[in-house]
Amino acid sequence: MKRASTFVRLLDEGAAVSFEFEGRTIEARDGDTIAAALLANGIDRFRSTAVGNAPRGPFCLMGSCFDCLVEVDAQSNVQACMTRVEAGMKVRRQAGLGELA
Ligand code: FES
Repeated sequence: MKRASTFVRLLDEGAAVSFEFEGRTIEARDGDTIAAALLANGIDRFRSTAVGNAPRGPFCLMGSCFDCLVEVDAQSNVQACMTRVEAGMKVRRQAGLGELA
């Protein structure tokens, strides 16, 4: 069942920045976090759990819950809510624990 995203961008300011998520071009605004940009584009599943492969998405949006972990430019365990978008970055959903550095 497809869920409707209820995230609404309150301010539509800043220069346009685009990055890639799972091969799809995402339009964001300069200063957006990855989490804010993905939510604004209707994407709310960021990772899956190591046990049970359950979907997870951002919950706290302030760096506490770690439910927003993604892979950025092949580096895992990046908190999407604490990382600002950069033009051209490649973001993927994180499956399980990801790679430890
Ligand atoms: S949403 Fe909770 S740490 Fe990112």
